[in-house]
Amino acid sequence: MLVGYASRFGSTRDIALRIAVTMRSRGSDVDAAPVGDIPDVAPYDAVIFGSGVYDGAWPTEAAEFVRRHSAVLARKPVWLFSVGSFGDGHPVVGRLIKKEPREISEFEGALHPRDYRVFAGVIDLDHWPAWGRILFKALGGQAVDRRALEFLKTP
Ligand SMILES: Cc1cc2nc3c(=O)[nH]c(=O)nc-3n(C[C@H](O)[C@H](O)[C@H](O)COP(=O)(O)O)c2cc1C
Repeated sequence: MLVGYASRFGSTRDIALRIAVTMRSRGSDVDAAPVGDIPDVAPYDAVIFGSGVYDGAWPTEAAEFVRRHSAVLARKPVWLFSVGSFGDGHPVVGRLIKKEPREISEFEGALHPRDYRVFAGVIDLDHWPAWGRILFKALGGQAVDRRALEFLKTP
């Protein structure tokens, strides 16, 4: 199987590699690769693909990857995931701040993935524009690596 990812600062890559290691430990033959290093998806029996979310969207290279390979992917078992500030789970601020990638309904319609999940990522205010930093602090947000908090919940 393939675990592909688009990752600007590495947090989606780390999650993709963790998925790949877990699948390998369960006996799957897994390639893990950044989106730019995946010329073809045809050889794989199943594909997991994830991307970080930026301003409510997947970066161009992630969206183009899905569109370019959608006909082939639609015939395979596919799982998609996003990595955003808060993921699916955060009770209050998460729902306020979380913005789904705007392409996700298009991709769900085209590929019919077995599942789609949003994992909590890294909030590093050094990467945010000034207005975002001010709003985030005003709302009482904490700039942390939220993946660690999610991993602690993993049984
Ligand atoms: C400029 C900027 C915009 C972002 N926009 C969103 C967003 O719209 N929705 C969201 O859930 N997370 C957003 N995030 C959080 C990132 O998705 C998060 O940091 C993620 O871990 C990045 O993954 P990557 O390092 O693999 O690219 C944004 C982060 C930055 C720096």
